[in-house]
Amino acid sequence: DWTPEHTLETLIADIRAKVGSDRVLLAVSGGVDSSTLALLLSRAIGSQLTAVFVDHGLLRLGERHEVEQALRPLGDENLRVVDASEQFLQALKGVSDPEEKRKIVGREFIRVFEAEARKLSQEGCRWLAQGTLYPDVIESAGGEGAANIKSHHNVGGLPPDLKFELLEPFRYLFKDEVRELALLLGLPEPIRMRHPFPGPGLAIRILGEVTPHKLDILRRADDIFISALREWNLYDSVSQALAVLTPMQSVGVIGDERSYGYVLGLRAVSTVDFMTADWARLPLDFLDEVARKITRQVPEIGRVVYDITSKPPATIEWE
Ligand code: XMP
Repeated sequence: DWTPEHTLETLIADIRAKVGSDRVLLAVSGGVDSSTLALLLSRAIGSQLTAVFVDHGLLRLGERHEVEQALRPLGDENLRVVDASEQFLQALKGVSDPEEKRKIVGREFIRVFEAEARKLSQEGCRWLAQGTLYPDVIESAGGEGAANIKSHHNVGGLPPDLKFELLEPFRYLFKDEVRELALLLGLPEPIRMRHPFPGPGLAIRILGEVTPHKLDILRRADDIFISALREWNLYDSVSQALAVLTPMQSVGVIGDERSYGYVLGLRAVSTVDFMTADWARLPLDFLDEVARKITRQVPEIGRVVYDITSKPPATIEWE
């Protein structure tokens, strides 16, 4: 019988057989795949696991804390949180081009991760675990397209002198199966059912240059949108939802005063494969509440718009 319990036991047995008493390194991103893998590896090999979480300063409100809490079972000494926000923000300074931003985040990520990986390698760590799923395996085999989008997120790109054996326990699993494992392993619901979040994070949701001030504005607005989706029980009915801070400012009026605030875009989509997507018909009362909350609680934002473009022609992200 092919139950999640059976899959879990098989995976644990396989990992133990493969790894023996060796140490394993894992990069966690805060997404469901790497978080589930962290809990699985911890269950299988305990303190032989070292998980590294790079905080690139482009995460959403409370996200780092949430991941730290969820990975509590690993034990403090097996989870290394690297705060590299300064380094990423410095590298992104003055950069507006989306592809350039992606490259910079990818490059800095490898730099930070490489430093950790090298230390561990010198301590005798032999394995590098990745949460590669079956569809990723297929896509990579196919070459171009979607595999390309996520390329930097995989921890390829390590220099050739830094060698690890690759451990990919999920390479025959689909996302739904990983979510079932996550449930068995006690991964908290918000992470287990979390929408995908791009590797470059909020850097590609701030159109134009990324600054600490804009990150702060976007974080607060995004949190209001996402929290409201959860409160209205709409979160699970859409495949992805996001807020985008545009560089545009528009005129408004607060009391008797003329105001001048940023235009914020909200987007929610339904999709099966993220290759095509339909904009989500969220209830107007819901959108009304969100727009009011955002303009009230984030005064830097003067206007909220809802994106009614499907993919194609528009991509899901605005950059
Ligand atoms: P688009 O915007 O191309 O997005 O319709 C499709 C899916 O991919 C995600 N995405 C990314 N994920 N690095 C990532 O890891 C990226 O650079 C990137 N760009 C887009 C996007 O969030 C959506 O789920």
